Amino acid sequence: MDQASGLRRMAKQKPVKVIAVASGKGGVGKTNVSVNLALGLVAAGRQVLLMDADLGLGNVDLLLGLRSEYNLSHVINGQRRLEEVVVKGPEGLAIIPAASGTQMMSELSKEQHAGVIRAFSELSLPVDVLLIDTAAGISDSVVSFTRAAHEVLVVVCNEPTSLTDAYALIKVLSEEHGLQRFNILANMVRTPKEGNILFAKLTRVTDYYLDVTLNYMGAVPQDEYLVKAVKKQQAVMKSYPQSPSALAFRQLAAKVDKWPAPEQASGHLEFFVERLIQYSAAG
Ligand SMILES: Nc1ncnc2c1ncn2[C@@H]1O[C@H](COP(=O)(O)OP(=O)(O)OP(=O)(O)O)[C@@H](O)[C@H]1O
Ligand SMILES: [Mg+2]
Repeated sequence: MDQASGLRRMAKQKPVKVIAVASGKGGVGKTNVSVNLALGLVAAGRQVLLMDADLGLGNVDLLLGLRSEYNLSHVINGQRRLEEVVVKGPEGLAIIPAASGTQMMSELSKEQHAGVIRAFSELSLPVDVLLIDTAAGISDSVVSFTRAAHEVLVVVCNEPTSLTDAYALIKVLSEEHGLQRFNILANMVRTPKEGNILFAKLTRVTDYYLDVTLNYMGAVPQDEYLVKAVKKQQAVMKSYPQSPSALAFRQLAAKVDKWPAPEQASGHLEFFVERLIQYSAAG
């Protein structure tokens, strides 16, 4: 592909909004939020690519009962095209399965680097939103994915360690990596008020110690239907669309859908991959 045709193709592409879902603490609902938010955006007419950036046990394919043969590492090694790695989930949701490749991003050769970027730039699948389900903790991989994204959605729940871990994540991302805007979602709340209180507690400390802006995205209730759906290896949005959590996920999707589109230049998938590689290498 010559440069001019590459530029022409890029000018025609719509920018892709990249959203990373993170939490600091494990088990607060990142994967459920990622999957159900993705389905909510699909229902709103968006083309969504969900990237599983967590190698842990509770990953996206498990939650959706999907099997994947290939992952990003096969793309990095040049064995598969990105299209061949993408798995089709419910309602046409496209999924990139988890790979140890995210660790490898920092150790790519020049050829592999160029290869991954080409793989993303050649993806013919239309994408409006790339959602990234990150791992628990504040590893280099979590930091690089969140830095490369346009928006970060931090999931918290009403446990002291969830708030302290979310604070630690926000602190690292803001003080060491210059991120300033964070979207906060309260999960597993018993009442809407519990969500507001959680957000107020977090804001109180970040306002005092950090130079960041927190944006409250609302709350998802503690919901037995979600637990049932997880056991069935299905998304709650699909198996119990009228359940309290599914309703909350739909509201969340409507809010996320209103986030402004990224600027043209930062909005191309290949530029997201460039940032990801650059930040991974920078450590
Ligand atoms: N809104 C909810 N209502 C009830 N239970 C929930 C809710 N959200 C999450 N859970 C429970 O928490 C469990 C963990 O959720 P999930 O796997 O999405 O968390 P995670 O943050 O992705 O975990 P990990 O850090 O291991 O990746 C679910 O299997 C479910 O039992
Ligand atoms: Mg998870």
